[in-house]
Amino acid sequence: MIEISASILSLKDKNVIQTLYNLETAGIDYFHIDVMDGEFVKNNTVNKMREYCEYLNSISNLPLDVHLMVKDVQSYISSFLVFEPNIITFHLEAAENKEQVLEWIKLIKENNVRVGISVKPKTKIEEISEFLPYIHLVLVMTVEPGEGGQELMPETVEKIHALKQYVKDKQLEVDIEADGGINTKTAEMVKRAGADILVSGSGILNSENYAEVVKNLKKLS
Ligand code: DX5
Ligand code: ZN
Repeated sequence: MIEISASILSLKDKNVIQTLYNLETAGIDYFHIDVMDGEFVKNNTVNKMREYCEYLNSISNLPLDVHLMVKDVQSYISSFLVFEPNIITFHLEAAENKEQVLEWIKLIKENNVRVGISVKPKTKIEEISEFLPYIHLVLVMTVEPGEGGQELMPETVEKIHALKQYVKDKQLEVDIEADGGINTKTAEMVKRAGADILVSGSGILNSENYAEVVKNLKKLS
């Protein structure tokens, strides 16, 4: 069953609460929280994402899917744990060595949160295979991380397919989440490639009817 994680990065500042409510009633499965530190990527969304998490903790029971696009992974894991997220995902590219990756996995797991590792479009799947037995989810970036509203990079779809094959062959329990440029036009090929969770930001927020878009994104071919 396909799940939808709505990115609230491009939320308009006016009536934020109403929009969050509309997203939840439209049938999304997660709120996707894009935390950017201004170092790993040029934008800085930390304060805005903390504010949104505070709102969501008080008005919604939907799980939070936190996507850390940060250099200092350890301190952002700790600071976002307070919002009791369901998933915390960090970027493999932020790690200097394998020990760090294992440390971050452990820190997230010991707080009973699902662990995700994200890979940028140019990072090869082979680079994360050794960690797959210890994590719950791989976040395959289908755009360069750093902003919403970009076009999906078609060459990343093959990566989803290859990863799905690998996970199946090794009988691993790892979900595949795709993130960036996913909308009613591009979702089909991403689902066919094997993604289990689709992140969509502008694809939902720029539409007239959130529920219609979410239903379409979830539809199995
Ligand atoms: C990009 C973020 C994505 C992005 C998705 O760095 O990780 O989650 O906000 O937004 P859309 O769906 O508009 O590409
Ligand atoms: Zn994201």
